[in-house]
Amino acid sequence: MNKGRTLGLAASVLLACASLVAHAQGNDTAGRDLAAACAICHGTNGVNAGGLPHLAGQPKDYIVQQLKDFRDGKRPATIMHQIAKGYSDEQYELLGAYFASQTPGRRTK
Ligand code: HEC
Repeated sequence: MNKGRTLGLAASVLLACASLVAHAQGNDTAGRDLAAACAICHGTNGVNAGGLPHLAGQPKDYIVQQLKDFRDGKRPATIMHQIAKGYSDEQYELLGAYFASQTPGRRTK
């Protein structure tokens, strides 16, 4: 095997490792990544300035149940019934866990 090939091989092994690490990190932050889409209305980390329900620090099961109720039309909503339909049950769990772990009344953690 010539030098260039060896380097190429080493580089692709490194790249493969890097993407594995990136993937593992992605899983850890999956809830936060999903929750970014909620921030525009519910505020960063689930604490918002005006009017809308705070999500930060609410029990995970409560959040998951509300999302299911919105999706199934059991809880009347202006917008959340549409938003809830865009996520799977697994993603509800990730979202609920993320917001439950945030501190109410604080904008960053
Ligand atoms: C376009 C603005 C908007 C976005 C984006 C949004 N929400 Fe909401 N959310 C609302 C409004 C408004 C309500 C009050 C119910 C209604 O009228 O739909 C609400 C209510 C809720 C409630 C009930 C809170 C309580 O105290 O009972 C939960 C849970 C919730 N949203 C979760 C989410 C999650 C999770 C996301 C992101 C996937 C999200 N929302 C994105 C506007 C939004």
